[in-house]
Amino acid sequence: MTPGEHAPGVRLVFLGPPGAGKGTQAQVLAGTSGAVQIATGDILRRHRRDRTPLGLEAQSFMDAGKLVPDDLIVRMMEAEIVGHDSFILDGFPRTVPQAEALDALLAGLGLPLVAVVLFETDRAELMARLTGRLTNERTGRTYHVVTDPPKVAGVDDDDGGPLVTRPDDRPETVAKRLVEYDSLTAALVPYYGAHGLLVRIDAMQAVPAVTAAIEDAVRRREAHVS
Ligand code: AP5
Repeated sequence: MTPGEHAPGVRLVFLGPPGAGKGTQAQVLAGTSGAVQIATGDILRRHRRDRTPLGLEAQSFMDAGKLVPDDLIVRMMEAEIVGHDSFILDGFPRTVPQAEALDALLAGLGLPLVAVVLFETDRAELMARLTGRLTNERTGRTYHVVTDPPKVAGVDDDDGGPLVTRPDDRPETVAKRLVEYDSLTAALVPYYGAHGLLVRIDAMQAVPAVTAAIEDAVRRREAHVS
């Protein structure tokens, strides 16, 4: 590639508060675009289940609704990203130092981001979504007891696996996660705005309408950067 050119591919960051629908949309769009979904929370929960040193270190932060320290996350995510040229980063970066580390990594790989998708929602909706969420811990697929229930209670339609309530979806922990978002992650909105990468999506719409809005915004960004 000559200077100024970049590798083709869908490279997105999904940014937004807990419960905004990042994981739901990342699963749909990974399926339709061929990009790989790299979900920080799912990777951390896998480390916890496997009782790796990283998982054990992350555990207390996650249970308290706190962010895991940047150095652990950056090392983990570098290993996950390298080797892919199309990806949806679901839950990373979440702080300005993480965003700066991602910029440096992608510049070195010659793989610039296409867009950072900001999921805009209302706070009361987030609490309702998270406290009703059911998760397949093995695959990361989520349901909602009211708006998107599985066919058989407690069982994933896809693989028949058990559906559980995440420990950090208790109302008091959700409230702490929202404080953490406001104090550490919201700063990425002006950060990526200044980089000209931010696209805002109304994430209060139904799932298919949110998907269509993201696809439309990404098409526009791709036309803009090519
Ligand atoms: P993580 O697992 O990433 O949690 P999160 O960002 O808080 O996001 P969620 O998974 O809670 O929400 P979501 O936006 O994906 O919503 P979903 O699609 O499931 O992180 C967990 C923890 O790991 C963190 O607290 C932290 O400790 C640690 N961590 C992770 N990344 C880190 C990082 N980079 N740095 C440091 N620490 C990190 O949807 C929610 C519910 O709503 C579902 O039930 C779904 O069915 C429903 N729903 C979705 N869309 C809609 C819709 N449009 N309408 C109606 N219902 C909907």
